[in-house]
Amino acid sequence: MSDEQDEPTGDAWVKGEAGVLPKGLAAAARARLDQQRERIAAARGGGNAATPDGDRPAPRRSPDEASAPDRVPSGRPRPSSAASAAPTSSTGGRDAEARPAPARARRAEPDARPQADPEPAPAQGDVLGLATQVVTAGIAAPVQGEPFLRGPVFAGPYHAAGDVGDAPHLYGRMSNPGFERYEQALATLDGGRSVVFASGMAAATAVLQTLLGPGDLLVAPNDGYPGVLQYAREHLATRGVGVRTVPTTDEAIRRAAKGAALVWIETPANPGLQVLELGATIAACQEAGARVVVDNTLATPLRQRPLDLGADLVVSSDSKHLTGHSDLILGHVSGTDADLVEQLRRWRTLAGAVPGPFEIWLAHRSLGTLDVRLRRQEAVAVAVHGTLAAREDLEDVRYPGFSSVVGFDLGSMARAKRFLATLELVAEATSFGGMHSTAERRDRFGDGQVGPGYIRFSAGLETPGDVVADLVRALDATG
Ligand SMILES: Cc1ncc(COP(=O)(O)O)c(C=O)c1O
Repeated sequence: MSDEQDEPTGDAWVKGEAGVLPKGLAAAARARLDQQRERIAAARGGGNAATPDGDRPAPRRSPDEASAPDRVPSGRPRPSSAASAAPTSSTGGRDAEARPAPARARRAEPDARPQADPEPAPAQGDVLGLATQVVTAGIAAPVQGEPFLRGPVFAGPYHAAGDVGDAPHLYGRMSNPGFERYEQALATLDGGRSVVFASGMAAATAVLQTLLGPGDLLVAPNDGYPGVLQYAREHLATRGVGVRTVPTTDEAIRRAAKGAALVWIETPANPGLQVLELGATIAACQEAGARVVVDNTLATPLRQRPLDLGADLVVSSDSKHLTGHSDLILGHVSGTDADLVEQLRRWRTLAGAVPGPFEIWLAHRSLGTLDVRLRRQEAVAVAVHGTLAAREDLEDVRYPGFSSVVGFDLGSMARAKRFLATLELVAEATSFGGMHSTAERRDRFGDGQVGPGYIRFSAGLETPGDVVADLVRALDATG
């Protein structure tokens, strides 16, 4: 294995009162420090700026602030400086040689319009940059002698004398301080209100069950994460909900939305990596009278914020990038409609789809490194995509231009199996978004969404050259 060779982000860093920060964030960090001091002073002076256990509320964006600094006007996801296959106005300064050749399949191709800087400097008084938010969101204000992130609270029942409502927590299926802290963090990142669930599928089914009843029509992708459609067919269709399936293209979804109560969108889609013009498609579906839910698992809120683009709800499997260490299963839903979000919370309490306190703590601990993890994964993915797209023996190499997943077709099941068995560094495993590079023959589940030789590769945090070398060696050996 080679030594570490690749560059860090290349952002301009400055040393200031708030520590060493990317240049653009220094002013915002100073403002936040001032706010923190005021809060601490208020708390010491007997004020109630801090909540009873010292948590501070997440710096929520109001809907009016939805013109978030990290948005791309077209509604296309925001590529990172490392991963952008598009000519952006980025000043990221990453290694230009690592940029990929354009994806051959349906791709997150640049529009002609200029794209936003990947992490533009928030103006003073504006919300903090997303990299700062992942580190700070949901974390308690400083309390002398306390850790940065409070430990997990293991409780079934809590001490709760008197009436319901006399104690902040009554029973672990209803609430837990760790859920609340993590939900504050998610609310900040998604730009809404959030409810955490025991898994991505628990989050998805909470939405489907809460929003759909007999006589309603669901539009769902036939090339997205298959669990949603399987659940709809096995549990909704049998209870009188119509299910209309569509490929993940803007046109097909817009056409299918007429008469639908709910349109389920996944972009980039897993495993095929199709990318939509999200804002326009959401608007078209809503004009047709449907609610729109976006599964944002692959993009993460650092690359795409569907609520800013008008989505009614955003769903995520937090088992993947958000937590990133392949050590837990978790999910969440966010939305801007407070009543709707409370309905989902109520569903969680009744259905009992709550996560464990330790998983929540692990998730929140891991969330803080999301920005650096994602950047490294994108550096690896860009290097892999660039190398594979240049090979004559690979037909269909796909990369949306951001995030960790690269797809490619080896033409046959036999070659795909030999290729996977020959890999040494890249582990054969399902899922994506973790710190280890992994790959799998996606059609082994028999869902028929991709060909029998299609490989879904998930970039980890290793040195890009090592991952590329492993893939190239396995490809050459099995060509
Ligand atoms: C895009 C997408 N959505 C939802 C899910 C379900 O999430 P979980 O496995 O956390 O239940 C997955 C899982 O692979 C997924 O890839």
